[in-house]
Amino acid sequence: MSDVAEVKGYVGNFKARIVKKARYVIEKECTSCGDCATACPVVFPDEFNVGLSSRKAIYKSFPQAVPSSYVINMNECMGRGCSKCLDACDKNCIDFHMSDEEIMEEIGSIVVATGFKPYDPREMDEYGYTRFHNVVTSLEFERLVNAGGPTQGELIRPGDRKHPQSVGFIQCVGSRSLRKGGEYCSNICCMNTIKSTLVLKEHYPDMDIKVFYIDIRAFGKGFEELYNRSRKLGVQYVRGLPGSVEELPDRSMRIAVENTSNGKIEFYDLDMLVLALGIEPSSGTRKLQEMLGLQLTPDGFYLEAHPKLLPVDAATRGVFYAGCAEGPKDIKESVTQGSAVTARAIRLMHRGEIVSEPITSEVIIERCTACGKCAEVCPYNAITVDKKMKTPAVVNTAACAGCGTCGAECIFDAIVMNHFTDDQINRQTDAMLEEDAGEKIVVFACNWCSYAGADYAGVSRIQYPPNARLIRTMCSGRVDEKFIWYAFEKGAPIVLVSGCHIGDCHYINANLWTEKRVAKVRKKMEKLGLRPERLQLEWISAAEGLRFSGIMKEMEELRTTVSQEEIRETVEILKARKQKS
Ligand code: FES
Repeated sequence: MSDVAEVKGYVGNFKARIVKKARYVIEKECTSCGDCATACPVVFPDEFNVGLSSRKAIYKSFPQAVPSSYVINMNECMGRGCSKCLDACDKNCIDFHMSDEEIMEEIGSIVVATGFKPYDPREMDEYGYTRFHNVVTSLEFERLVNAGGPTQGELIRPGDRKHPQSVGFIQCVGSRSLRKGGEYCSNICCMNTIKSTLVLKEHYPDMDIKVFYIDIRAFGKGFEELYNRSRKLGVQYVRGLPGSVEELPDRSMRIAVENTSNGKIEFYDLDMLVLALGIEPSSGTRKLQEMLGLQLTPDGFYLEAHPKLLPVDAATRGVFYAGCAEGPKDIKESVTQGSAVTARAIRLMHRGEIVSEPITSEVIIERCTACGKCAEVCPYNAITVDKKMKTPAVVNTAACAGCGTCGAECIFDAIVMNHFTDDQINRQTDAMLEEDAGEKIVVFACNWCSYAGADYAGVSRIQYPPNARLIRTMCSGRVDEKFIWYAFEKGAPIVLVSGCHIGDCHYINANLWTEKRVAKVRKKMEKLGLRPERLQLEWISAAEGLRFSGIMKEMEELRTTVSQEEIRETVEILKARKQKS
């Protein structure tokens, strides 16, 4: 009943504004007797039972709901004109004047456990979910066979309330598909279906059960055994997804499927069909992502700071992920992740103070004009500038993650990136180009992806041209335009800026600024009469050692097209430009 409306601050010092919705029933006084609901004349589909039963406008979401109190849906309620619930409640706990409440909380760390939403099979109605009465989703099926469900656990067809003699399960609905839902495997559907077949066999041993699948992914502890048990009990697994589903006059379904294990087209008549729905990111994911400055994977789930070493941490310090918010997972994995998150949060908070990395930016107050560019580009909102008062920028070192984008974007040189200062980087360029500059390829590589990709190429003994010289920055966002000009001025034939693939940057979206910056420099090169191809931008991940090597070979080919004369001319043009400015 509450929404997080706003989160400000940083690790250890978050401030959250929470809107607690009015429930129009005094929570503490309600004894959940249900007299109000009995009296209420308004009937609506019950969301908890996926619309398979009904509820009143005053209701309890489900029997075990916490707090155990009724709630009125004011969009459905007839209000004071009716007031039947008001009359029925002896405890006087109904209050039509209740309004939403705003709560401010101070928070040390945040756990994002927003769950998932099931794929909506109406999007691509190929299996007739919206057309045929006896095609149900796995969630609807779950309620139908649940002892606390609308039929007290008796499986009946929603279309005619008959008991089905045969049931088919269609796997991967909304998963592993380019056309519908996600391209990823939803992780839980195979085992959920296997469990459902076992439940059915337990209650109805003679039932004819078929499962249509692409692969059965029974990878967890004890999962293969469950799969084998289901087969032994007579459940038939057909390798192939149905091509067509038709409804027969008795409301059963005829399915045509290419059985890929024998290459034959087969037809099956089944009384009921269950669609094993895939998992999608929950609906509030984007809103929360913007609010907390988080990253998403291309599938729309939250991206962890590191898939192996920091699997429950967000890139924003003090924020953690648990459960399906981070990707599809089953109960066991969710519980494990939940426990891990708790431990991580406690570890971070228990001392009352945190140790921050020394790689943070620092403002040179005398140079800062309070233009606000640094604050605009900071992916972590770690910089504040009061443009009106013209007060210099202030970096919150606890929130600064050290990408260096602010330093690269500040045209007044008012930001020093500790441990990756302009001077430190330019001195590396000097050293690299001290001898035979025309033979070298200068590569700016981000610590997390490209540099790691080069490392991977090295340890895998993948060959790449020995004249490539790498300068490590924490993020490609740190590669200041000045570093590129400096390298050309010092005689570099080719400069390559490289970083994580778009969407994979370890500093949320800092590499988008890299992309813009490189495009800007290339335009300037063109204006100056320099070949823009001499500045390249490539995205290389830590696992792409082979790609790193391939790109380096391409760079070497490009380098051979740059003559000594061209380099000399470049140096002169750039010197003249410098003198002018
Ligand atoms: Fe690799 Fe940002 S960390 S580009």
